[in-house]
Amino acid sequence: MSGFSPDWLALREDADRRARSAAIDAAVAAALAAFPEPRICDLGAGTGASLRALAPLLGPRQHWVLVDHDPALAAAARRVLAAQADAARPDGADLVLDWGGRELRVSFAAADLAADPAAPLAFAPHLVTASAFFDLASARWCRAFAGAMAGASVMVHAALTCDGCDAWSPPHPADAAVHGAFRAHQARDKGFGPAAGPAAATILAEALTAAGHAVMIDESPWRLDAGDRALIAALAEGTANAAREHGGVPPDDLASWEAARRQAASCRIGHVDLFARPGR
Ligand SMILES: C[S@@+](CC[C@H](N)C(=O)[O-])C[C@H]1O[C@@H](n2cnc3c(N)ncnc32)[C@H](O)[C@@H]1O
Repeated sequence: MSGFSPDWLALREDADRRARSAAIDAAVAAALAAFPEPRICDLGAGTGASLRALAPLLGPRQHWVLVDHDPALAAAARRVLAAQADAARPDGADLVLDWGGRELRVSFAAADLAADPAAPLAFAPHLVTASAFFDLASARWCRAFAGAMAGASVMVHAALTCDGCDAWSPPHPADAAVHGAFRAHQARDKGFGPAAGPAAATILAEALTAAGHAVMIDESPWRLDAGDRALIAALAEGTANAAREHGGVPPDDLASWEAARRQAASCRIGHVDLFARPGR
């Protein structure tokens, strides 16, 4: 189990879709247009959000390999994608989807990516993509992954990697203390060693550049307001719980922060998107 519930992934998906960098998505689409049936490997695929975001921008035939270590999420992805497609049929272990006039072959791979940063190469992908994934990995893992992908001339797309630039409105006196405790909690080992958290995108960018890839980066913050009340409340609760678990913030301050944040007028949660391709 990964600890990421399908309900949480569904709750954040609309904000994720709005946040994604249109410039980076367009660059990915342009690069994949060269291939009649691009193979796209999605790391930490969850219930298939990357496919839902990117497939409509890509060509008429696509082969997706959804990689995750959580069998419950893989089962949810299979169910949700089949239900959302215009038509779906199994083909062996794959699903073949009619998706807005496109034919998508979807393969599912159960793998603990922590064990081998080069594992995606087994699927001979043109592109390795991931969303909300790399900040879970360690700096060491990100560097090894970048070296392996660049060494095999594989394109890399990292969407929605948190960058730590969060801002809530209106401000609260405990903002700095809660933020500090949350960041410390975020750096805990998520199975890959100490998590790179907000440093992940920069680490990936530097390692990919050093290995000869050309790298583009763009901001992709969540911009949440009154229309995102349920996500704001879940975020306030999750942040407060993480800070509580880390310790160091007086309980009364934390309770006051959480109560205020549940009602926040708006917040900006920083992420960045990255696209890297062979050649400078
Ligand atoms: C924050 S969720 C993002 C899911 C999906 N990409 C999305 O944007 O909705 C992180 C995903 O990474 C997966 N994951 C975490 N550690 C993993 C590992 N060691 N190997 C494979 N998948 C992993 C989780 O199961 C989860 O699906």
